[in-house]
Amino acid sequence: MSADVEFQRYHPVQRALHWLLALALIGQGLFGLYMVSMDNSPQKIEFYNLHKSVGLTILVLVILRLIWRWRHPPPPLPAGMPNWERMAARVSHFLLYCLMLAMPASGLVIGFASGFPTVVYGLFNLPSPIAANEELMHTMSAVHFYLAAALLLVVLVHAAAALRHHFLLKDTVLRRMLPALAAGLLSVALLPAAAEATDWQTDYEESRLAFIGSQSGDSFEGVFEEFEADIRFDPEDLEDSRVEVTIETASVNSGSGQRDSSIRDEGLLDVESYPQARFLAETFRETGDGAYEAEGELTLRDTTRDVVLPFTLEIEGEGEERTARAEGELAINRLDYGVGQGQWEDTSQVGAEIIIQFVLHAEASGA
Ligand code: HEM
Ligand code: HEM
Repeated sequence: MSADVEFQRYHPVQRALHWLLALALIGQGLFGLYMVSMDNSPQKIEFYNLHKSVGLTILVLVILRLIWRWRHPPPPLPAGMPNWERMAARVSHFLLYCLMLAMPASGLVIGFASGFPTVVYGLFNLPSPIAANEELMHTMSAVHFYLAAALLLVVLVHAAAALRHHFLLKDTVLRRMLPALAAGLLSVALLPAAAEATDWQTDYEESRLAFIGSQSGDSFEGVFEEFEADIRFDPEDLEDSRVEVTIETASVNSGSGQRDSSIRDEGLLDVESYPQARFLAETFRETGDGAYEAEGELTLRDTTRDVVLPFTLEIEGEGEERTARAEGELAINRLDYGVGQGQWEDTSQVGAEIIIQFVLHAEASGA
């Protein structure tokens, strides 16, 4: 199983640039406010030059970040996230990039319009493409200030959303942007619950465990009326996921009392000696959008075999309000499990292939 599927993070370069730029932008904003409040002095000129140099460095890093993002697209958002939230994330990230570009662009214009040289770290001066223009300078100063205020506002909403995901929804959104060490510390030290996959309460009224067999060339369907599904599953944390289903074999109901008693018989399920059948899976793979495979063990009578069970999963809602519906089927040969002793080994009347089908409905249970 690839670690990427279990918990996809942003590329390390993207993560490093995110936090470096977040720090640099906050520092730059505070420094900008401080320097404009200073009385005129050689130091003020020096500070303006530093602000412009750092601002240009930020511009270069934002451009590099966008190129990097284009080459390494971000990991997909967690499954089950509502559409409005996906849209909100897309719009706010777009706005953040726009503002990160507009800040230095407007700053550059102030510098050019002021007629003062734009000195880059004391190394060289950027030539100004325009003549000094005091009116433009004042306008752009105001624009630069309001853009900084807008950036602050969007960043506050953005950070609040990230914290909501981590502390309320307990998903991986914040951790996938954190450096590995910080993400590890957050999930181990601060929030052990966030690292664990969700426990689900099965809604047995809505769930169904069925099978299809064949008798004398015609297919018949049956269900197991009593079973227990113990589910810990999280699309974001497949490694910590586990599903165990225990089936009361005597609860079989195929719509015919006579057939059910044959199925319960020694030659088939032998429910007296083997009152329970079991499916246990601890390895999961995502195979597509909402599609998974569980690698597990199926035990019928006293025989346990490895099986791969494909299923689909839909999760609706958020956090502890989530509901899930999983559905899948698996074809087995009953003889592989010894379901067919003595005369029942004959497959001319009762076919060898059994298709097991399930639909499980569950609700996320509180931590
Ligand atoms: C990249 C992010 C940047 C941020 C977050 C930022 C932020 C700020 C802030 C908050 C102020 C104070 C505004 C006020 O109170 O009037 C300011 C002023 C200023 N910034 Fe930036 N700035 C950035 C980039 C730049 C760049 C690249 C330049 C020029 C190359 C620049 C040039 C200036 C100038 C000249 C002022 C003084 C405006 C005045 O005197 O009213 N800034 N900046
Ligand atoms: C100046 C400050 C910040 C800026 C400009 C900024 C900008 C951005 C941008 C543009 C993205 C989208 C990345 C992409 O998909 O290419 C992003 C993602 C992210 N940011 Fe920030 N950010 C800032 C501060 C913060 C803070 C303080 C936090 C946390 C408290 C935070 C948490 C995150 C998280 C978790 C993501 C990933 C969201 C996802 O998985 O889609 N950011 N940030």
